[in-house]
Amino acid sequence: MKKRILTGITTTGTPHIGNYLGAIKPSLNLAQENSESFFFLADYHALIKAPDPQSIKASVKDIALAWLASGLDVNQSFFYKQSDVQEITELSWILTCITAKGLMNRAHAYKAATAENTTDDDKGINMGLFSYPILMASDILIFNSTHVPVGPDQLQHLEMTRDIANRFNHLYKKTFNIPEAIIQDDGKVIPGLDGRKMSKTYNNIIPLLSDEKTLKKSIAKIVTNSLEPGEPKDPSGCNVFNLYSHFSNSDDQAEFKAAYSDGISWGDAKNRLFEKVNLELGPIREKSLQLQEDQNLINDLLDAGAAKVKPLASDMLGEVRELVGISKIG
Ligand code: TRP
Repeated sequence: MKKRILTGITTTGTPHIGNYLGAIKPSLNLAQENSESFFFLADYHALIKAPDPQSIKASVKDIALAWLASGLDVNQSFFYKQSDVQEITELSWILTCITAKGLMNRAHAYKAATAENTTDDDKGINMGLFSYPILMASDILIFNSTHVPVGPDQLQHLEMTRDIANRFNHLYKKTFNIPEAIIQDDGKVIPGLDGRKMSKTYNNIIPLLSDEKTLKKSIAKIVTNSLEPGEPKDPSGCNVFNLYSHFSNSDDQAEFKAAYSDGISWGDAKNRLFEKVNLELGPIREKSLQLQEDQNLINDLLDAGAAKVKPLASDMLGEVRELVGISKIG
């Protein structure tokens, strides 16, 4: 069977280089192999955080641009918006009815949110957050995906998807493929400005599609220690070096390491990082500006993408409805 690769990005906030290095770039590389690929914008997942409606729309546009400008070829892949495929939410309900509440209780994302509460465990927790992994399972299972590239923080959700698929197959009939996670770079985390995982939640991102000046400013904000120019510095555990290593080959890295030993100043180190990042992101930025010249392009592409995937989703849902008894009687 051909590999079916599927991954989504939640449409909250502007795309950043964590999304690019962790999801977009590795997924597009995988797509070059002999496989089918499904890339989508998880806007129903965005509703869980319920930011304002305009910011969801803006994020859908920017994340779509990020995929396209980074080289996604809509003729070679399936590219769509989750909410355009209603079959996904319908399947999500059916899966909700066979998923143990106890399984959801164990989800890290939910547990992390309750852990912040002191007196009332449930404070600020909506049911979307609680059942988030079931919607994600629907995203994956509805297209019978075989491989799902994800960041290390999503591994548990993949395990839950496998559990849910196995349960359905066991209760009714072998229907869903049991998908495998693909973890990039052995699970290396892309650090943000403060060294924690780059994430909108931590407000520590470097935007992907910003102009040169903004990129340079963001890089200047990366937290370092306070060693002076001339003092030897240690690249291991250094956020600047860590990010640099994601954009460079081993020769460049060796050279940069030597500069650290020679006491490069943080200003110069950040400039070198900027040059490298800019070399790779420059063409992506250009392409994104070009794509924006056609105002209808993204909507048109997403409409076409939805039309392409809907028959597949509808076939799978039809089978599932039949199996669970939601179909014509007699
Ligand atoms: N939960 C993922 C994240 O926040 C996004 C996502 C939603 C996803 N559905 C998916 C990723 C299905 C892979 C497959 O990063």
